[in-house]
Amino acid sequence: MNRNLALEFVRVTEMAAIASARLMGRGDEKAADQAAVDAMRAMLDSVDCQGVVVIGEGERDEAPMLYIGEKVGTGSGPELEIALDPLEGTTICAKGGQNAISVMAIASKGCLLHAPDTYMNKLAVGPEAKGCIDIKLSPTENLARIADRKKCRIQDLTAVILDRPRHADLIAEVRKSGARIHLIGDGDVSAAIATANPDSGVDVLFGIGGAPEGVIAAAALRCLGGEIQGLLVPRHQEEIDRAKAMGILDITKVLTIDDMAKGNVMFCATGVTDGSFLEGVLFKRWGCITHSIVMRSETGTIRRIKAEHHFDRKPRY
Ligand code: FBP
Repeated sequence: MNRNLALEFVRVTEMAAIASARLMGRGDEKAADQAAVDAMRAMLDSVDCQGVVVIGEGERDEAPMLYIGEKVGTGSGPELEIALDPLEGTTICAKGGQNAISVMAIASKGCLLHAPDTYMNKLAVGPEAKGCIDIKLSPTENLARIADRKKCRIQDLTAVILDRPRHADLIAEVRKSGARIHLIGDGDVSAAIATANPDSGVDVLFGIGGAPEGVIAAAALRCLGGEIQGLLVPRHQEEIDRAKAMGILDITKVLTIDDMAKGNVMFCATGVTDGSFLEGVLFKRWGCITHSIVMRSETGTIRRIKAEHHFDRKPRY
């Protein structure tokens, strides 16, 4: 994969972030998401690649744009698989909360898991705890292993969990173990990424969130040297059938980071609202400032890009 493509793709997430950030706090999830989708779709057409969306806005019959299987890019250049979420954290954006991002993961053909739009139980850690987790074990056992690896007490660890009724037992168990918990309303991609940032104070992500978000988080953690394991949690037979049709024949299998994102992976994200790892879009009289991150698993290079966009010179905005 041509490394220069990374800069092309970050322009795509920048565009989507700016479009949705304009609708921050307006209480309209759909409008914010649509703005991000439209902007991302338009911008993708200018990237020299033969891209196929493998994680997108849904199946072809339910998503008019950026649906799974849609071809994107100019049609010349490398054949790529793209996992995208134009606005990860629609509710966050609609409420003006923290950690809404626009995000894409890019890999060579055959490297990203084609995950159905179902749920996934996730366990994610940063590089320090890589190799010691096992999603088949209890949260308590995993916390003990992480504490052992980090040479600290379980009480010193912080777990991030989506604040959902389905997590009542998980939350109770983690509390009983003594670990601290950061409950989040939405946005488990940012939370998974936070486990790899020593300054975030987050050690582990537990719990059930979207399966597509799991694959995107896997791409990010692959670049950052962390680890994620996942187990699909389909809600009904149709989702099981979809998973099988997408190539996941054993839906009870533990999905490793290699199952979700292997080979050379590129990841880029732009902050929509302020968050723990990216600042949000800052509008100015003359335009706006965006903050993005671009990472490549091949080299482990992490680039942070602060960009000034002058609206008078870029009529597209
Ligand atoms: P959206 O941006 O699609 O709203 O997803 C936000 C999110 O919080 C994800 O980060 C998470 O994986 C998923 O929703 C959890 O799903 P649910 O809200 O159904 O519990």
